[in-house]
Parts: sequence; structure tokens; C-alpha cells
Amino acid sequence: MINADTKVYGIIGNPIRHSLSPQLHSEMFKAYGINAIYTAFETKDIKSAIDGIRALDIKGVNVTVPYKEDVVQLVDKVDKQAMILKAINTIKNENGYLIGYNTDYLGFMYLLKKNVKENYISKRIAVLGAGGAAKSIIFALSKLNVNSVFLLNRTRENALKTEEIFKNLIEIEVSDLNDKDVISSSDIIINCTSVGLKEGQIPIDINYVDKAVIIDIIYKDSLLIKRARSKNLRAINGMDMFVGQALYSFELFSGIKFDMNLAYKVLGDNKR
Ligand code: ATR
Repeated sequence: MINADTKVYGIIGNPIRHSLSPQLHSEMFKAYGINAIYTAFETKDIKSAIDGIRALDIKGVNVTVPYKEDVVQLVDKVDKQAMILKAINTIKNENGYLIGYNTDYLGFMYLLKKNVKENYISKRIAVLGAGGAAKSIIFALSKLNVNSVFLLNRTRENALKTEEIFKNLIEIEVSDLNDKDVISSSDIIINCTSVGLKEGQIPIDINYVDKAVIIDIIYKDSLLIKRARSKNLRAINGMDMFVGQALYSFELFSGIKFDMNLAYKVLGDNKR
């Protein structure tokens, strides 16, 4: 029952109407008997939104596009991993003291462990894109003891900047999205470009792919995923990463690790 004691959580972003987070977190609060709600906050003014968290004693939020980097400057403390990534997707309000975390990379670790049972440490892995999403994925791979990856990006300069950030954690070989040799010899290709968020766009020529497992971190099936499946390649969308990051955010909010099967049940038809 919602009453004056109900704690408020939410997700801040713009646009945010497509987000599955309110549905998932609200149902989990209900399932674990926690008097809390979780909703979506669409804002054009991130600084005021963060002030609002303090003023209204909102207990915790997720942060998504385009504010993950901006909030690093706006919270009181940034967790060590989030500081490396310079991106926050979870804020916990501890009596007015805001602490920023990043659970995106944990979500990707969950996706990879769940779906790729082979020993990926020795695999040839290509990451497409060099922005915020790609950084989380490269960080996750380094945490999983992967020694080297190929980084294919439209703008070489941006890829070199990303390489610089991770140079002490993982070896990165930079190339472009048309590199047929890298694409055809890869065992795993992970799309972290924003291509695919737009209907009908694809980041690489699928004909170059020979044997790779294709992963796209977008949670709906992208054109890349669909084309890969029609070529009989294994293709994994980002739903498991989404549920994985939510698991760790929810744990920060409530101290409870929710039941993954229950999470997938709650998401129902949205899964595919
Ligand atoms: P996100 O936080 O989702 O990673 P981002 O930091 O803006 O968003 O990064 C977007 C990524 O998608 C970048 O790697 C970008 O390539 P550039 O470095 O060349 O900008 C890539 N990207 C965006 N639009 C693209 C397109 N039309 N073709 C190829 N790559 C694209």
C-alpha cells in the first residue's frame, strides 16, 4: 500500500518513456514486501533533478542517457569503479549524501557469463564503438581477465582516447568498422555503437562475419541481431545486461539480490 512512508526511487534520463526499469524495480519492491515505488523522471535539467533528490529525500535513482557522465560532478562521492569509467548509472541517497555507482559493467559480466560458457579469455573479441557504453564493456572484459580486444570505431581519434583510458588494464588494438579481417576472424563481436537504436541501421557488414557470436547491448533485437540470426549465427541481445545491471542497482537500493527468474517473469513479453 502506498502511504506517507512510501520511499521513492526512479530513473532519470531523456527520453525515458521506453524504459523497463520502473516496471522491473516496482515489481521487485512489491515482491520483497518493501514499501517503495520506482518511477521515471524525464528531465532537461540534470542539476536541478539532482538537487531535487536531496530536497525531496528520494532514496535512490538510476541515471541513463544522456546524463551518466554529467552526474559524476553532481554527487558527493563517486565509487572507485564509476570513477574509472567517469560514468554513473546508480545513485544512492544516504541521509542527503549522494553516492554514485556504476552497475552497467556488472550487468555485462552477468550477460557474458550466462550466455558464453566457453573460455572467452582466449577468444578474439571485437568491440564496436568507443563511447560510454563501449567503455563499460571494455572494463567488464578487463575484470573478466580478458587480455586484449579489438576496438572498431567510426572515428579513430575517439577509439584512441578510449584505448588510453584502459591502457593499464587491457590491450586494445584500434581499427575501423570496415575491417574485414578483424570481423571475419573474431569469435565474439559486441555492438556498443548507438547504431541500432535507430530502426533499420547496422554498424558492420554482416557478410564479413564468419563465425562470431554477436552481442548487441540494446535490449530489443536490433537489425544486427536479426541479420545475424538469419545467417545462423548465435546472437544475444542486451536484455540480460539490462536485468544484470538492475540486479546490482536494486541490491544497492535495498540490500536484497532479487530472484532473476522472477525478474524475467515480470518483464514478460518485453523480453524479446
Ligand atoms: P553511448 O553512451 O551510447 O556509448 P556515445 O558515448 O555517444 O553513446 O557513443 C556512441 C558510439 O556510437 C560512438 O562510438 C560513435 O562513434 P564515433 O566515435 O565515431 O562518434 C558510434 N556511432 C554513433 N553513430 C554512428 C554511426 N552512424 N555509425 C557508426 N558509429 C556510430
